Amino acid sequence: MRIAHISDIHVNYGTDFNKKMFEKGVEIVNKTKPDLIFISGDLTTDGLLSEYKLAKKSLTTLNGEKAIVPGNHDERNLGFKLFPEFFGDATFIKEFDEITLVGLASSEPDKDDGRLGVGRHRLIEAGIKMQKHMTIIGFHHHLVPIPNSGREKNIIEDAGETLDIILRNQVPLVLMGHRHVPYGVKIHKTLLVNAGTFSCNRTRAHFGNTFNLIDIEEKQITVTVVDIGKEKHKKMIKFNLEDGSCINRYYDRDIRI
Ligand SMILES: [Fe+2]
Repeated sequence: MRIAHISDIHVNYGTDFNKKMFEKGVEIVNKTKPDLIFISGDLTTDGLLSEYKLAKKSLTTLNGEKAIVPGNHDERNLGFKLFPEFFGDATFIKEFDEITLVGLASSEPDKDDGRLGVGRHRLIEAGIKMQKHMTIIGFHHHLVPIPNSGREKNIIEDAGETLDIILRNQVPLVLMGHRHVPYGVKIHKTLLVNAGTFSCNRTRAHFGNTFNLIDIEEKQITVTVVDIGKEKHKKMIKFNLEDGSCINRYYDRDIRI
């Protein structure tokens, strides 16, 4: 199964949104023919009705099934009331052919901070207990500090409790965004993966606009970072689900700034 993991699109009518980059990114995503497109939040910049309308219209050009959770920007200005109207439930468990996806809203209205809370922790546990497929968790904020993304802020405030549930249950994959740089790290038997920003002009150093391709096979998860501007694919991580071994090329020079 192939997942295109997209994050931080930041559609708006001001300076945040790079429309040309978005269109180029969509073209590349469509060529990769993903089975699922997971969008980990910040589809808009200020959660405005006009931005939601533009985001919805823009996403129609992305071919394939989509699962979407909101980010902190989407919850600004009562945007949290608009999200379900445009993109469905902000928190969900969805079954696909090969995975169970638990999608979680990690934001609080009008705050940049992230928090899951007891209710969403219970949903993670419910998704794990289903045991029909591999369970993957996805939300906007980051669970561990992300290198090359500036001073730490907005990490989910119950990161310790969330990590404990995820690591204890050996959830193989967690997908996140928010910090505008791609990153991945294996902790215990879990791969934590952050997507960079798909089409926001607020990029960091030379990271540019990127998305992640996640290829899930029976015994292996491969994460590839796609640089939209340079049209380059870089394999970042190979994680062997059977023996727990992990090759992480993030720290090779060609991935770093
Ligand atoms: Fe964000």
